[in-house]
Amino acid sequence: MSDPLVTLTRLLQPVFADLSGAPADPTVRPSDRADAQINGALPLAKRLDANPRELAQRIIDSGVLDDVAAELEVAGPGFVNVTFSDEFLAAQLGEVASDERVGVATAEPSKTIVVDYSHPNVAKEMHVGHLRSTVIGDSLVRTLAFLGHDVIRENHIGDWGRPFGMLIEHLLDLGEDVAAVGLSQGDLDGFYKQANAKFNDDEAFQARARERVVLLQAEDPDTMVLWRRLVEMSAAYFNQVYTKLGVLLTDDDLAGESKYQSLMEGVYSRLEERDLVREDDGAMVVDVDGFTNRDGDPLPMIVKSRTGAFMYATSDLACVVDRVERLHADLMLYVVGSPQAQHLQMVFAVCEKAGWLAPPVEAVHAGFGSVLGEDRKMLRSRAGAAVKLVDLLDEAVERADAAIAEKNPDMSDDERALVARMVGIGAIKYADLSTDRVKDYVLDFDRMLAFEGNTGPYCQYAHARINRVFAKAGIDRASARSTPIQIVEEQEKALAMQILAFPTAIDSVLDQWQPHKLCTYVYDLASAFSSFYEHCPILPSDEPVRSSRLALADLTARVLERALGLLGIDAPEQM
Ligand code: ARG
Repeated sequence: MSDPLVTLTRLLQPVFADLSGAPADPTVRPSDRADAQINGALPLAKRLDANPRELAQRIIDSGVLDDVAAELEVAGPGFVNVTFSDEFLAAQLGEVASDERVGVATAEPSKTIVVDYSHPNVAKEMHVGHLRSTVIGDSLVRTLAFLGHDVIRENHIGDWGRPFGMLIEHLLDLGEDVAAVGLSQGDLDGFYKQANAKFNDDEAFQARARERVVLLQAEDPDTMVLWRRLVEMSAAYFNQVYTKLGVLLTDDDLAGESKYQSLMEGVYSRLEERDLVREDDGAMVVDVDGFTNRDGDPLPMIVKSRTGAFMYATSDLACVVDRVERLHADLMLYVVGSPQAQHLQMVFAVCEKAGWLAPPVEAVHAGFGSVLGEDRKMLRSRAGAAVKLVDLLDEAVERADAAIAEKNPDMSDDERALVARMVGIGAIKYADLSTDRVKDYVLDFDRMLAFEGNTGPYCQYAHARINRVFAKAGIDRASARSTPIQIVEEQEKALAMQILAFPTAIDSVLDQWQPHKLCTYVYDLASAFSSFYEHCPILPSDEPVRSSRLALADLTARVLERALGLLGIDAPEQM
């Protein structure tokens, strides 16, 4: 743990335990007046009926902070202000610099964590609505894996159900080759709409589609071949989008609704065995406490329809059982839009009732808001249609290309194409991730691509700028790494503190599944670098200051690259 605030807490814990006779939280916080503030003396004094300022003084007198602090002072009603010694911070930085993981320890114990994200639907376009789940999920996956957890990515695609009757019949009508052109090259909506139009207008087609659903449900071999073709063609298309977006998902991560179909019967019997199923108006339902419909009446979960078909909810029950019993998940993370909050809460509640989900195993819905247009309504294309995700990504890259061409006219076309991709996609991801996920946000290309402000390009630019310093001086970054860093100037200290806070930033992301906290961290780090760069000349300085500042810059770049990497954002060396 490199964060000096965490070190403070660790050093203070025995003192607080001593004073209070039981473990007590020292409550260490960042401070504007000093580097940190210890707030725990106040509640402790209240409990012990002691004078808080005297207690604060006793904490100082204990001497446990003498090695880390240059100054300790009782302030206000009984806070302790801590100013770290430059030597202490320098030593901490040295440890981080020599650590490949830049100070971030692996998690103990390591857990098996299933992350359910992206989940587009087969034979349907990936729209802007899929952006958030894909990008938030990708970032959480990368962060958890970095901490050493065993992360299982599950892309719960919509690959089963009634529409597949008409989709398969339409596939047959078109012929596979023609269908493949539309489906794998990104006219999925066209394909779906044509099928739907035929279903509505053509009775014979409708009858064929109905029969096909029956064959599909019976897993008729010929039908399954056609169904699989549809899934494969869509998956090929999804993969193109994933590659463009730079996320980790592959075909190995596909775990669509179809996978749980054969498990539903068993899950249903287990519900029956536990006497949890009852009939309600012809359908079979499970009662779950605490859920009501719009009229305020109790809302049971329908697990089997009147016609005897299992439901989306039933497949999600089977999915939980699979994750717990086969994959031995300790935690299941559902990165699914907020409109499905009730559905998921009911699924979890039924699973608890049935005994499939019990502590320490946990299921969490990490919901998210919508992407809005400038009119603050759901983002739509000019023609009023949903916006295709690929179009959005292409536009971001094009705009980034133009911005870089203006900023850096000397860059070669090939180089610029590469960098534009990193910057354009990075800007989209950063704009998405930097908003608290539960909120909606307005998609604004100009804002997200600005090189100033809390944006992806601003953070990437700090990284590129550091690389430029080294390139200009003809110094290899790795060679700067073993030089001890000295902290003299205020801006050096601020930057050092920010570097050392990286592990805490990661913890804060995982606490409530909030990648925006990592964005805030990266932005603060880039800003701290920027003031350092302005106030503390690097190359013009004399030794040993020059080497120390080069080492500090290199370490900053390493943390920036790592932190951006956890957001799924590339760190270009020039831009
Ligand atoms: N495919 C679903 C949809 O588009 C989302 C799936 C979410 N995951 C889940 N286990 N239900 O709405």
